[in-house]
Amino acid sequence: MRTCYTGEVSKAYLGQTVTLFGWVHRRRDHGGVIFIDLRDRAGLAQVVVNPDNAQAFEIAERIRNEFCLRITGTVHARPEGTVNPDLQSGEIEIICDEIEILNASMTPPFQLDDDNLSETTRLTHRVLDLRRPQMQNNLMLRYRVAMESRKFLDELGFIDIETPMLTKSTPEGARDYLVPSRVNAGEFFALPQSPQLFKQMLMVSGFDRYYQITKCFRDEDLRADRQPEFTQIDCETSFLTEEQIRDIFESMLRHIFKTVQQVELPDPFPTMTWHEAMRCYGSDKPDLRVKLEFTDVADLMQDVDFKVFSAPANDPGSRVVALRVPGGGSMPRSEIDAYTKFVGIYGAKGLAYIKVNDITAIPEGLQSPIVKNIHTDALQKLLERTGAQNGDLIFFGADKTSVVNDAIGALRIKIGHSEFGREQGLLEKSWKPLWVVDFPMFEYDAEEGRYTAAHHPFTSPKDGHEEYLETDPSQALAKAYDLVLNGWEIGGGSVRIHRAEIQSKVFNALKIGPEEANLKFGFLLDALQYGAPPHGGLAFGLDRLVTLMAGADSIRDVIAFPKTQRAQCLLTQAPSEVDEKQLRELHIRLRAVEPK
Ligand code: AMO
Ligand code: AMP
Repeated sequence: MRTCYTGEVSKAYLGQTVTLFGWVHRRRDHGGVIFIDLRDRAGLAQVVVNPDNAQAFEIAERIRNEFCLRITGTVHARPEGTVNPDLQSGEIEIICDEIEILNASMTPPFQLDDDNLSETTRLTHRVLDLRRPQMQNNLMLRYRVAMESRKFLDELGFIDIETPMLTKSTPEGARDYLVPSRVNAGEFFALPQSPQLFKQMLMVSGFDRYYQITKCFRDEDLRADRQPEFTQIDCETSFLTEEQIRDIFESMLRHIFKTVQQVELPDPFPTMTWHEAMRCYGSDKPDLRVKLEFTDVADLMQDVDFKVFSAPANDPGSRVVALRVPGGGSMPRSEIDAYTKFVGIYGAKGLAYIKVNDITAIPEGLQSPIVKNIHTDALQKLLERTGAQNGDLIFFGADKTSVVNDAIGALRIKIGHSEFGREQGLLEKSWKPLWVVDFPMFEYDAEEGRYTAAHHPFTSPKDGHEEYLETDPSQALAKAYDLVLNGWEIGGGSVRIHRAEIQSKVFNALKIGPEEANLKFGFLLDALQYGAPPHGGLAFGLDRLVTLMAGADSIRDVIAFPKTQRAQCLLTQAPSEVDEKQLRELHIRLRAVEPK
């Protein structure tokens, strides 16, 4: 039996004989004495093998990295000057009595402590990659977050109910992963994009408080914060208002941060409407650590000679915004040029700027290629409205609203997180949670010429907004909310529609006819006819939450066996071709595919 985990051996064990199991992290031969850093999931400890223990020493000479060992030895204080303050076991070492090689290891394809490994190498050799202390910590953190969520929800009477993985698709906006049915030729299941409709039906069935930590599947373009299969902490309640639902789930997040990381998040979380978030930050998930804000200036630019500004200033579908960067006047031209290139990625055609040298001298005190085309009155008001000071830099975005929001929104984050931004104190080092509320019900899809649901089609309109469903869907706001943390959407939910007639109106606005609605969601509409309770809920993205808590760059670092950006598993080589026999059983004939 093991006495304790290797990484747990501390001064408390001084003088005791311990038995440890673990892997050889490093072996150092100090001419006569062999040191083994033994590692397990709790950490490292130093084992010393002296030549006077001939039997153990002979084995230690044969040991290489990643061998799996059992070691028995006595815990001693390390000699003065050799204490390692970075390790829990840094004050002790274990003088080895006995070693058993439980299994040898081939030479690993990389050094486990190499921090510059390519992700391809790491994902191909994921089993070894997961042995790295960082990955062990990430997955243990993930477990603790999931566990604390369960404890919190259980305490409040939420019960875990499983919902099917082979199902009919729920429209969450992504493409479905399909599973062919062998028994029902030509028919397909979809893997769930979320348990949305099932949790709503559980409310109709009277379960009242449901949760589930479950996989969701979405075939969408992947990014650092997106995986084709990811995990939600999915929750639903009956009889609560939007505010009461948000209260529960922000308490849950506070509980998780407090118990897992001893961090006190603000109480309550700030709340911002979707419109305000778009106005001030050009994003529905603003990173509030960055102390920069948009200033709308279209009204000042309607009659200036500079067409780049005056044209969008007079177009209701466009925006002209200023982004004041305190102290930005010191930014070299090369950095401004780099930012101009950067906003180009988001479709911006340029990046006008003004350096504010002397605020009392307009226009001579303003250094910029554009001031000659903007009259003094507009410049004066611009400086007042942005609160500009000498030494500041003002950037401008003038284009279609979506282009300005994307480009200047991304610029805001980029500058805030840059070396300049950090030196200027434009980035606050703290946790910044935020509720974004009052989302629009619908987004207009210009390509398809119709509205689509901004959250999903089962989201309730705000009280008093029902009539917009028929008169002007673009005005309708929803009882929908997202939880944003440091610029990441870590959760989202809504109060649902619980009356069939409102649900029909929403389908009408979405141009989903009664027949189509019946075909796709007849089971839900049916359920709503039998005394459905008012209900609502939320789902947290567990992978994203843990990524933030771990300080990792990508959600792939907190998932044991993730997919690449190309939706492949490098470890198992999935997806892969299958036998003709399997296809035949599934009634599937492949079309010719373009060679890769
Ligand atoms: P939503 O689609 O907003 O809502 O998803 C909830 C949360 O899940 C996370 N998330 C993802 N994480 C990783 N990879 C992905 N591809 C991915 N997609 C989403 C996000 C997001 O906030 N049924 C509703 C919830 C509800 O209304 O109760 C839903 O699925 O953190
Ligand atoms: P131009 O007159 O096109 O040379 O542009 C003058 C300045 O305006 C340059 O600094 C451009 O980078 C900037 N600019 C051009 N188009 C835009 C735009 N849509 N939004 C913001 N700045 C722009």
